[in-house]
Amino acid sequence: MNARRPVRRPAPAPAPQTIDVTITAVGARGDGLAQQGGVRLYVPFTIAGERVSVRAGLGAAKEGKGEGVRAELLEIIEPSPHRVPPPCSHFGVCGGCTLQHMDDGAYADWKVAQVRTVLDRVGLAGVPLHPLARTAPLGRRRARFAALKRGKRVWLGFNGRQSHRVADLAECPVIHPALLGLLAPARELLAGILPDGGACDLMVSVADGGLDLLLVGPPALDRRARERLAVFAEDQKLARVAWQAEDGGDSEPVAHRGGATIRFGSAIIEPAPGAFQQASDAGQAALTAAVVEAVGPGPKRIVDLFAGLGTFTFPLAERGTVHAVEGDAAALASLSRGAANRRITWERRDLFTDPLTVKELDRFEAVVFDPPRAGAAAQASALASSAVPLVVGVSCSPATFARDARTLTDGGYRLTHVVPVDQFLWAAHVELVGVFVR
Ligand SMILES: C[S@@+](CC[C@H](N)C(=O)[O-])C[C@H]1O[C@@H](n2cnc3c(N)ncnc32)[C@H](O)[C@@H]1O
Repeated sequence: MNARRPVRRPAPAPAPQTIDVTITAVGARGDGLAQQGGVRLYVPFTIAGERVSVRAGLGAAKEGKGEGVRAELLEIIEPSPHRVPPPCSHFGVCGGCTLQHMDDGAYADWKVAQVRTVLDRVGLAGVPLHPLARTAPLGRRRARFAALKRGKRVWLGFNGRQSHRVADLAECPVIHPALLGLLAPARELLAGILPDGGACDLMVSVADGGLDLLLVGPPALDRRARERLAVFAEDQKLARVAWQAEDGGDSEPVAHRGGATIRFGSAIIEPAPGAFQQASDAGQAALTAAVVEAVGPGPKRIVDLFAGLGTFTFPLAERGTVHAVEGDAAALASLSRGAANRRITWERRDLFTDPLTVKELDRFEAVVFDPPRAGAAAQASALASSAVPLVVGVSCSPATFARDARTLTDGGYRLTHVVPVDQFLWAAHVELVGVFVR
């Protein structure tokens, strides 16, 4: 006979209540953390040490492995000496920046501490950290904006915090002025293209010959809309305009005025519309400098894993032969067009399901890997058993980097140092380069 198991029902969500709490730390997503009756509260826009009044019980929140409830900041009772007026009028509404209320020293310390914390967690405390490489305001050269039309009005900007509401941007101290300058004319354009209630995204990046625009999401573009877009491209002197019916689908060219190219050293690359690129010149320069310096003078046999358009492939080809491995066909096609007459070979490969084997890895003197946020668990396992003397990891997710770093150190590598890079000013993201030797 089956024993009847008691049914476990989820505890009912507590009703919102107003309470005063002390912020003990700022967590990985940039929210202040507090404890109330054994429950962790996540309080946005606060700083460690502050005494604040909050409305708690707004729903479950999860950050890494910690769980708790979201709380709304009502009043700052005792402010931190590190609190400063945020430089942007959209702060708190726009989801783009969460840390503008900290002074610069506290902000930079917090970013470095994020890296230190995840390394400590995997038993790699004590690894030397270089000073944080910085990106100045107005330095972000690519952005994805959300647009929404209601009646005749178009809202265009970044999504709000944890919501699909669009913060209609009038200013932004983070993005390149050319990106901000496109928003007003783009609102007019979209008012004529989108139906009432219609939404789409605009992916815009600064290219050599002007802005490169990809419209994502309007499910159809009729002839009149295409003509308007083509006129818009002329009026705004855009390098290129393309349209993608749905996220991740194929894009269609709408206008191509030339100059939709970017440069990696002397290589000129034309990315597919919307292709991954580093978000700022300063961030890219810092990551590249750290990678190239770690690889050292050539000649060397180098493999660049998760190579994308070749951000590291081309500068590294000045130091030796480079084999670029990438899963995205369009990115690899762009890379290969720029690789003619250089010491570069390339290969399309899914490095999650089909990582380079130990035998393949052992042909190289240096491995660079720069995976997406999920990290490179399978590839790190193979690397851990390899004899490659130098491995350079680049990451946009310190947590998955730490996991992969532990795999490498368990396999006998030593993590010599980590360079933290702040490419997303005032956001909770941190990037890094870590150097492993054996
Ligand atoms: C963070 S980007 C880095 C690209 C390049 N290193 C750069 O700095 O511009 C990660 C790259 O990994 C690629 N990628 C994602 N999943 C992959 C997989 N399973 N196998 C191979 N490449 C993958 C993406 O297409 C993207 O180009």
